[in-house]
Amino acid sequence: MRGNLSAKDRLAVALDVTGRDAAMRMLDLVSDEVGVIKIGHRLAYSGGFGLIEELAKAGKQVFADLKLLDIDQTVAEGARSVAATGAAYLTVHAYPKAMHAAVEALGADPTMRLLGVTVLTSMDDEDLQEAGYAVPADQLVMTRALQAQQASMPGLICSALEASSLRAALGPNMLLVTPGIRFAGGEAGDQKRVVTPQKAIADGADILVMGRPITAADDPRAAARRAVEEIEAGLAERG
Ligand code: C5P
Repeated sequence: MRGNLSAKDRLAVALDVTGRDAAMRMLDLVSDEVGVIKIGHRLAYSGGFGLIEELAKAGKQVFADLKLLDIDQTVAEGARSVAATGAAYLTVHAYPKAMHAAVEALGADPTMRLLGVTVLTSMDDEDLQEAGYAVPADQLVMTRALQAQQASMPGLICSALEASSLRAALGPNMLLVTPGIRFAGGEAGDQKRVVTPQKAIADGADILVMGRPITAADDPRAAARRAVEEIEAGLAERG
């Protein structure tokens, strides 16, 4: 699955807008330029949840970034319900019990790919310490990545800064999906571990998640095209 993704399929635009109308306006601009539409908390909780199924039915790959974490049965039932919408990807926090519950709920060879969220790319070592974790971010990412592999998760969300070390540790099959992507010279915002689209792909990331560099650009369509061009350049760099 990893190898045969087109450059467009490797770009997931984070539709982080409030309400369906704003989502439809942004989709009008970027939908043809990107392969994957990511719907996260902001849109899902402001009337956009139904768009997951609607866009999937219209043939789009939808990435339900709902970051599940709960007791096993609730995670399992949640994952099954999201799979029924036709979503292509669903995020689950990379806690072993949650990942095992979600993987078992979907059964063998599910169409929807589960992605384990290792450590949010807005978190650095200091933030983790404040949250009660006595390990640096890179170590926690690696621990959770190995736990995800043990749980038979098909993919991970991680920083592109970790893509090459994770690829080396996990082998060729794990799908690495990386947020925290910024064009050279762009605003980092609240993201603390950022990489350009070309470098992320060259370093082994499979799918890039980009929100504000596209949705807050003066010309979101042009920004999406630029991202796809950089992905192509990154693929060429990989050889
Ligand atoms: O606007 P920006 O490009 O920073 O958007 C990144 C998107 O990726 C947001 O929707 C955010 O919720 C999501 N995300 C992330 N870090 C993770 C998992 C998801 O930034 N570890």
